[in-house]
Parts: sequence; structure tokens; C-alpha cells
Amino acid sequence: MFEKELSLALAASGLSAEDIQNALETPKDAKMGDICLPCFKFSRALRQAPQAIAQSLLPRVEGLPFVEKAECVSGYLNVYFSRLAVAARLAEIANSEVVGASDEGKGKTICIDYSSVNIAKPFHIGHLSTTVIGGALYRIFKHLGYNAVGINHLGDWGTQFGKLIVATEKWSSLEEVASGDEYFLNSLYVRYHSEAKLHPELDDEARAWFKRIEDGDKAALAYFDVFKDVTMRAVEKVYSRLKISFDSYAGESFYNDKMQPCLDILKQKGLLKQSEGAWVVDLDEYGMPPCLLVKADGATLYATRDLAAAYYRKQTYDFFKCLYVVAYQQNLHFKQLFQVLKLMDFAGADDMEHVAFGMVSMEDGAMSTRNGRVIWLQEVLDKAVAKAAAIIEEKNPSLQNKAQVAESVGVGAVVFSALWNNRIKDIVFSYDKVLSFEGETAPYVQYTYARAASALRKGGDANFSSADLSALTDDESYDVIKSVLGFADSVRQAAKLREPCVITRHIVDLASKFNRFYIGHRIVVDEAPVRNARMLLTLAVKNTIRTGLALLGIDAPEEM
Ligand code: ARG
Repeated sequence: MFEKELSLALAASGLSAEDIQNALETPKDAKMGDICLPCFKFSRALRQAPQAIAQSLLPRVEGLPFVEKAECVSGYLNVYFSRLAVAARLAEIANSEVVGASDEGKGKTICIDYSSVNIAKPFHIGHLSTTVIGGALYRIFKHLGYNAVGINHLGDWGTQFGKLIVATEKWSSLEEVASGDEYFLNSLYVRYHSEAKLHPELDDEARAWFKRIEDGDKAALAYFDVFKDVTMRAVEKVYSRLKISFDSYAGESFYNDKMQPCLDILKQKGLLKQSEGAWVVDLDEYGMPPCLLVKADGATLYATRDLAAAYYRKQTYDFFKCLYVVAYQQNLHFKQLFQVLKLMDFAGADDMEHVAFGMVSMEDGAMSTRNGRVIWLQEVLDKAVAKAAAIIEEKNPSLQNKAQVAESVGVGAVVFSALWNNRIKDIVFSYDKVLSFEGETAPYVQYTYARAASALRKGGDANFSSADLSALTDDESYDVIKSVLGFADSVRQAAKLREPCVITRHIVDLASKFNRFYIGHRIVVDEAPVRNARMLLTLAVKNTIRTGLALLGIDAPEEM
């Protein structure tokens, strides 16, 4: 807030407005001002003590219309804004349903590879993070004017298909699988793994079947298509509940015929080495194991497809950045991939980024698809929605669209729980935690939103041009306003750090500040100028929360 104006006013010989804007900070303690400039950052360049720099800058801010006072304290220039000037900026936010949007990303394309589910494997709670973090980043970048391209790099290639064919042939039929659901398909997968422990020869059969898929064998491909169909039908259901969409579903099988040019470049550059019959890129010099690209039997690998995908994306989208929202277990894979691309002089090599996140485990240990030890995502969503429905039934049985609101609240709670922490944190999945609707949760924010909506309905038509802004200069109102005006910055920060949780935390903080304001002040008072001012603030809060929730992929019901 006011960073630009302040930086321009402070720019002096030796210090550009940009230097200053980058150095500005929000004091930890609001008593130290609304914004401060730590001058020690410049003492080297200016060859002056921090306190002297602060002193010399002081006169430049004192006369500014939005500055109430400024002080130099131990090398910091602390600036206090005029609360009236700050409140005057509420109108921009109240007037626009969408808050914090900009066009700073104009002309830049960001590819975001997220969710990227494995076909013929169940969509479980472990896929929640990549899906909702990626989906949020996708919307956040769009909000900032970037051309975001959402890519679902489907895991639709690999030996699991061979295994499933064996299982289908032995214990079911193509017809039964085609008309069944993903749970049935998964049960075949689980059974395969338990039987293969006793009969390892099943693995040879599975490999042979997968080879037939690779060779384009008709019967094998018929199976492949059915497995893919069944999985995609199930996954699409989850995506629609989570409000997730993609611009491309080009997955691993899509690159089957696109790997050779990459291998050719590697050969030309002398980067491919033979090792025990396989082709690898040696990465010893970079402290990594070799990147295996073609196995001795001629089969290509996950990494080979990712190389081809990188080239394809550069060529198709000419990206500015290419993000991969994938668990940190794949750190090595991406380090290797990016290093190989560098060695190939790939044009986008410096713009590749692994956006890693932590692991999800169950309270009693790790999940395992093979053993059937998984928590299905659909099941989690259903349970959360049922809980929301029960609460609505108890607290507000006459609510309209009960089912729809329950869906918004239940799904919102699950999404929110995955977007609350920094990405990299490991999560132990607990139903109790996800289904808790108290404290730092989506239902709390949604409830606050509905509360604001209800106050505005009660207040009726407001005339904001006659709002008495001096009614908004008390501490509670001022805290709310600062949070509203700081939202745009949080969106930018979330994009820069690739951390949707910056937004999650911002809207929880805003909600709690608004609730403090709400408890301390009546909004719909008789005095029109005061009522108009408080409604102005309430509307700005409402627009900000709605925007924040929407960026995270969470609904904001008007009533609940
Ligand atoms: N399907 C992979 C998995 O579940 C993730 C793919 C990520 N994207 C990529 N381009 N490698 O592990």
C-alpha cells in the first residue's frame, strides 16, 4: 500500500525508486509504523551510517498527503499512514468484484504441469496436493495476467498396464472392467500384486503384454483404452468437484513418437553413453547418478518422455517458465532432467522449475496403492460434505440450496487443508483435522463471507459517496482496511514464491480481523454516513474474501 508513491518520493541521488521499493518492509510491530525502510541496506552504497541515511530521507516523506508522521529509529525510517487517506482507497476495492488482478504477466506464458495422475491407479489423497496447489497457481498466474497453460501430464504408459491386462484376463473380463468403476479396476491391481508375490512369472506375462501395447497390438490397445477410459471418468468427477481444469492432457503416451529427436540431439552432442547395454547421460560431474534414457531392451523411460515433453512445450507454447508441481520424492528426477536439458543447450533450460511439495501419509504409516492401503479422494470429499450437511441441518435447516452449500463447504474444507501450509511440509492425513470446521479453515472464512453478505443485505442500498470515512479510523477498522489493501501484494507474493498458502493465510487473517470489527461495531446503524462507511468496508472485505477463495478453488456461498 502506497509503496510506489513512497518509493518515488524517497528516490534520491544514489537510490532508485526501485531499490527503495524492494527494500520496504512491514514492521513486525504495528507500533513501529505501517511501513519502514531499513536503511542499513544502503549504507554500503551510500557510505553513510543507517541512521544518517534515515535522517536525510525523513524530510522527503513528511509532507506527503498520505503520511501522518514519520520517525527515524535505529537506522529505520518508520512511516505511519494517515488513516483517512488509507480508508479513501477502499472505494477501488468495493467497486470491483475481483481484487488484486493485474496485467503484469502480459505476454508471458507459464506452463504448469500438475495433478498428472497415473492412469489405472486410484486417485487418492496423495494426489490432492499437486492437484490443488497446481490449480491454485494456475488461477493465481492468470489473475496476474499471465497466459497460464495447465498441463495434465497423464501417467498413461508403463508396466502397470501389462499387469492390469494379466489381471483382467485371469480374474475378470474386458466387459466387466469397462462397465465397472475405478474401485473395481483397483481391486484387480491389488490382487495382481498379492498373487505376483507367490507367482513371479506373472510379471513376465505382464511385461509381454506391455510390449504388445508398445508395438501397437490391437487387442492390447483395446485394453489400454478401456483402462484409460475408466480412470479418466473417475478423475474427471473429482476435478469437477475441485474446480480443476486443464488446457492439455498430453501425457506420457503422447510422447511415444516424439523421443527420437531428443535422443538424436544427445547423440550428436556426444552425451549418450552405453552402459551395460542401456543408454545413459553421465552426470557424475554434477554429483548425480546417470540419467537412464533407453533400457537394454530398447524401452524408453519416464525421463525420456519428460525430455520430449520439455521440447514439445517450448515449441508449442514458447513458455517463459515451465513449472512442475510434483512431490519432492522426484527431486532427483527433475535435477537430472534439468541438467540434461542444459547439456543439450535446450532453449528453455533456465526456465524449468520443480515446484516440490511434501508427502502425505496416513496416521498409521505410508500409503501404498499396491497393497490397497489408500484413502480415496472421493471418499474424503463425501465425508466432508456429509459433515457439512449435518451441521447445516442442525444450525440452519431452512437454508435454501442446502445440498449445494454443503458441497461448497465440505469440498472447500478439504481443499483448504491442503493449501494451508507451505508446500514442502509433510502432511499426516487426519480425518479429524480435515473435517474440523473451526479455527483456520475454509468454513470459517466462508462463514465470515456469508456474515458480510448478510450485513450488506440488511443495510440495503448504500451511498458510498456520502460515506464518513472518519468512522473507519479506529484500530479494528484500520486493521481490516490494511488487510484488504494488502491482498494484492499477497497474490503477487504467492505467485513469486509459488505458494498459494500466502493467500490462504491472508484471507484467514482478514476474516479474523473482520470478525473483530464486526463484534465491536454495528454496521447497519441509523446514521447514514457512518452506515455507508461501514458498508463500504464490508463490501470491500466481501470482494476480497471471494477473490481469495476463488483463487484457491473454493466457493463462497452468500448464505450458510
Ligand atoms: N505421473 C507422475 C506421478 O504420479 C507425475 C508426473 C509429473 N509430471 C512430469 N512431467 N513428470 O508420479
